[in-house]
Amino acid sequence: MYNGLCVYPGSFDPVTLGHVDLIERASVLFPEVVVAVLNNPDKRGKFDVAQRLSMLERACRHLANVRIDSFGGLLVDYMRKQGAGIVLRGLRAVTDFESEFQMAQVNRQIAPEIETLFLMTSPHYAYISSSAVKQIASFGGDFSSLVPAVIIDDIRNAYR
Ligand code: PNS
Repeated sequence: MYNGLCVYPGSFDPVTLGHVDLIERASVLFPEVVVAVLNNPDKRGKFDVAQRLSMLERACRHLANVRIDSFGGLLVDYMRKQGAGIVLRGLRAVTDFESEFQMAQVNRQIAPEIETLFLMTSPHYAYISSSAVKQIASFGGDFSSLVPAVIIDDIRNAYR
């Protein structure tokens, strides 16, 4: 029986309702969930890491056992430092499978004690991605049904 920390890593550039759905479901399954934003200096996103953390904090405020953090370098090194044994990832469709499979296998190869678990995204959110949100926002479209209400202004302001 696993009763430790679960880490849900990602770019979250920005967090979507699909991410929040997964975080809510993980918060029921695990005693503590850490949502970990990758801080990658080589791949700057639309939002800087501080903005992504702030958006996640507000989107997850209703979840008492969820913590928001950032990490740099290898995920498995971060996991070990946190004393966490489970990586959680979401699968939206078969198109996600190939890269997720590879990432899980590489992580297993270099850190066999860490397990990767997958949750299927709820069908309602299966089509949502951060890229789609950014594309719609960049053309002035209505993305409000794709992201938490508390971050809509952050996104609008970023494309002003
Ligand atoms: O939301 P994303 O962009 O699909 O998340 C990808 C992420 C951050 C989980 C992945 O790129 C990652 O873990 N990067 C850290 C570097 C690492 O550990 N690489 C080895 C596994 S391939």
